[in-house]
Amino acid sequence: MTIPFIDLQQQFRLLEPSIRARIDAVLAHGQYIMGPEVRELEESLEIYTKVKHCVTVASGTEALLIGLMALGVGPGDEVITTPFTFVATAEVIALLGAVPVFVDVQPDTCNVDPTLIEAAITPRTRAIIPVSLYGQVSDMDEINAIAAKHGKIPVIEDAAQSFGATYKGRKSCNLSTIGCTSFFPSKPLGCYGDGGAIFTNDDALAKTMREIRVHGQERRYYHTRIGVGGRMDTLQCAVVLAKLERFDADICQRIEAGERYRRLLDEVPRVQQLAVRGDRTCVWGQFTVQVENRDAVLDRLTDAGIPTAVHYPMPLHRQPAYEGLYRISGTLERSERVATRVFSLPMYPSIDAQTQVRIVNEVAGALA
Ligand SMILES: Cc1ncc(COP(=O)(O)O)c(C=O)c1O
Repeated sequence: MTIPFIDLQQQFRLLEPSIRARIDAVLAHGQYIMGPEVRELEESLEIYTKVKHCVTVASGTEALLIGLMALGVGPGDEVITTPFTFVATAEVIALLGAVPVFVDVQPDTCNVDPTLIEAAITPRTRAIIPVSLYGQVSDMDEINAIAAKHGKIPVIEDAAQSFGATYKGRKSCNLSTIGCTSFFPSKPLGCYGDGGAIFTNDDALAKTMREIRVHGQERRYYHTRIGVGGRMDTLQCAVVLAKLERFDADICQRIEAGERYRRLLDEVPRVQQLAVRGDRTCVWGQFTVQVENRDAVLDRLTDAGIPTAVHYPMPLHRQPAYEGLYRISGTLERSERVATRVFSLPMYPSIDAQTQVRIVNEVAGALA
């Protein structure tokens, strides 16, 4: 039996009547852009995260871009972030002519090391973007405290992989100036195309971000700022609304599946598991572990019909496109090292114990 890396078909089967009804409703009213489902989804997500404002946007990348634009980030500014992330985190900084300032990660969580952030701050620092990698929130209290100490530097949580996760009882996206997430199909809450959302408790920022999302217009054809075409389609909002019905159940299943993997992998020598801090839940946007001889393990799993992925094989300061566009604070040795060691196993809410045992047996076999 082939094992999928993620199983979107199974999730669709569980929600099929609701998803079809939601899509039919959009087809019937025909408001494909900024239809009623857009605001309905935003209101549902405001309740879910307990954040005052949710602004849906075209993707997680667009969420980060609009967030930075709303903060006024531009040429010559610096934005502190991690090099061990999906490229979008730094891409939006560079697109605005600002400089990504890379700070190293914690080797056990792969999230940015807050103790290294202060040394990276300069008078040009305009924002800090911690990434909640693999579905676990970074050390937000420490990061927010450093940001507050240095003149209230805004903090944007890149929560593309962590929607639904908690930190000290609060939801990811409700932990800093701005929270950004993605509804890319494989994310914990995914749509059937591209989509994303921005969260903030700041009224003025929310208004600015709503305007930037629609070409910087304050009212129709009256443009007060430079914006983007960054709306989320009504149809995609309708899909997410249907998926919200099961989202809490999905998150519980993800956490259970993650725990099961962890118990099984505890018995396998030479696998370094992600450290999950006691004050937060990880929703396993990816279930990622570290090993020394990754290629051999990946080959063995591929031969056994088990799909894997590497999130991520090359830190961003090594990417050719970024040459000369970034600054490094300290060293990035840990990012370089984890990039050679990480790989991700199949993960989706309905993954069953038997499948996980089979997968972990193959991992153990490869490392024996
Ligand atoms: C950490 C991180 N940031 C940003 C993004 C961008 O999201 P999207 O693909 O919706 O543009 C992703 C998506 O893969 C991501 O994993």
